[in-house]
Amino acid sequence: MSDLTPRKDLLDIASLSLEEIEYIFENAAPFKQLFQRSVKKVPTLRGKTVLNLFYEPSTRTSSSFEVAASRMSADVTNFTVSSSSIVKGESLLDTIETLQAMKSDYIVIRHAAAGVPGLVAKHTRASVVNAGDGYHAHPTQALLDSMTLREVYPDYEGRKVVIVGDILHSRVARSTATLFNKLGIEVGVLGPGSLVPEGRHDFMKRFDSWEDVFDWRPDAVYLLRVQLERQEGQFFPSIAEYHKMYGMHSERIEKMRQLGAYLMHPGPVNRGVEITDEAMGYEKSLINTQVENGIAVRMAVLHWLKPETDKD
Ligand code: CP
Repeated sequence: MSDLTPRKDLLDIASLSLEEIEYIFENAAPFKQLFQRSVKKVPTLRGKTVLNLFYEPSTRTSSSFEVAASRMSADVTNFTVSSSSIVKGESLLDTIETLQAMKSDYIVIRHAAAGVPGLVAKHTRASVVNAGDGYHAHPTQALLDSMTLREVYPDYEGRKVVIVGDILHSRVARSTATLFNKLGIEVGVLGPGSLVPEGRHDFMKRFDSWEDVFDWRPDAVYLLRVQLERQEGQFFPSIAEYHKMYGMHSERIEKMRQLGAYLMHPGPVNRGVEITDEAMGYEKSLINTQVENGIAVRMAVLHWLKPETDKD
């Protein structure tokens, strides 16, 4: 593996250089090879502590970081917000001070408010990894998505991916589209007009229908979860209407098959909303590979970041 000046924190994709992105991919590949072995552990982070601090629900990201840190021999603590003093009114900064006193080396944080991971990073000597903040960013999701696409398309530059669904509320769309664009992958978007904001990312090509999408001949279709919990107000007439207009079903899968296009989704999946049960079984689905690559990418990120506690 080549060497690159480490950073203390990973807070977004926009500030990563191409060299840093390549470095993470370069390191993720050998970590992924470890998964084929009967013993999947390496001693890289032995003696280090990783704190998983999730203020919002998560299945994949929190468990993926937990597995990644465990495979690197770190001690992992999962801090459950619902059973902590936060529900008794403790402020974020007081919580950070308490966590700081525990001398964690890495803090993985998810929060409903954009910018919270950055705030935590300023007030702690631990390396902070943003595991999703509001509508802002989800950098490790973008890295695992890009790693997955690059594995099936080593000639990824100039490939086309269409992101379908709730772009407005999606930190995944924001981070993943930004990274695809940095890597020279063309990005299209399809979704209800109310959920596809105008002019947010000029590089994205907007589509109004699946017919237009398929005419563009995408190499992959990336479905987003419809984030009903973030939608204050009605952004489309009904779930049934959404499914009919934008969902992935057998007929559209047949078109994907003709194009040889791959299917991606960050999870968790809303079956019957953005995708049907049958479509979940599509032979060119990369959804499980995304999960596997998530662990490898997160191992590479933890390996690269350098907490200030290393100086102690
Ligand atoms: N992809 C993703 O962020 O999933 P979780 O919300 O389950 O972590």
